[in-house]
Amino acid sequence: MDYVLYQNSIIPKDQLKIEMEDRGYMFGDGIYEVVRVYNGVPFTMQEHLERFEQSAAALDMSVPYHTAKITELIQSLIQKNNMNSGIVYFQLTRGIQPRNHLYSREIEPVLSGFSKPLETNIEWQQNGIDTWMTKDIRWLRCDIKTINLLGNIMVKREASDQDCHEALQHRDGIVTEGSSSNLFLVKENVIFTHPATNLILNGITRRVVLRLADEIGALLKEKQFTLEDLKQADEVFITSTTMEITPVRSIKGDITTSFDIGPWTKKLQEAFTNYRNKQQ
Ligand code: PDD
Repeated sequence: MDYVLYQNSIIPKDQLKIEMEDRGYMFGDGIYEVVRVYNGVPFTMQEHLERFEQSAAALDMSVPYHTAKITELIQSLIQKNNMNSGIVYFQLTRGIQPRNHLYSREIEPVLSGFSKPLETNIEWQQNGIDTWMTKDIRWLRCDIKTINLLGNIMVKREASDQDCHEALQHRDGIVTEGSSSNLFLVKENVIFTHPATNLILNGITRRVVLRLADEIGALLKEKQFTLEDLKQADEVFITSTTMEITPVRSIKGDITTSFDIGPWTKKLQEAFTNYRNKQQ
């Protein structure tokens, strides 16, 4: 039987009751995290919880449980569902209230979550993915991990309709990030990624890559780059909790180009695997 997280307990999925007037349901008024689980152990849990708190604070919400309690709930969800390799999704909505744009500060936030098995896609890791470059149509607080993901999901569909696995986005020619991933390019042995401003989500995998790049002696700069820079790149890769470090082998759409899977991408993938294995 599948179990889910609801408030501060783990319950059988068929006992879960979602309220019509939950603001998450009507307004997308909430935040979330996706945590990877390797060998039954949540990866970079602390970083995810810190970002969860930051997203809540940015939206004038507060997380009703201590991070230790959320960690405990997530661990028991993984155990109850007997999951070895996968993800845990959890979200916090502002709460339940008769529909009104004006939110009340008196309502109780709703924490919920589930686990889902997932294996690393080895084929994508080795051979890369095809991507679709399009306009970034999102709001100006992409740094908040909100469940309101319309901009992201519209471009993901657009990419899939073009037989691409991920959408890459740009604002007036400045490349920001993927629809559900961060983006890196390598040019003449220097790695570039968009700085952690309001225009991107500061991915946890991105932060791990920043640390690992330093450890393996790679020069990495958090600096904006353009579509033209991307066209001239030697290597390109994306990062996320679910995709880890995945090379980009082609881009179509607002630019058309292709890349070989390069040495820096491979070195970082290797460093990531070692780091991940050490955390078990
Ligand atoms: N998405 N940028 C965006 C817009 C994202 O949605 C994500 C992650 C990332 C990478 O962040 P992280 O390394 O912390 O996973 C960057 C998750 C996986 C999702 O929505 O499923």
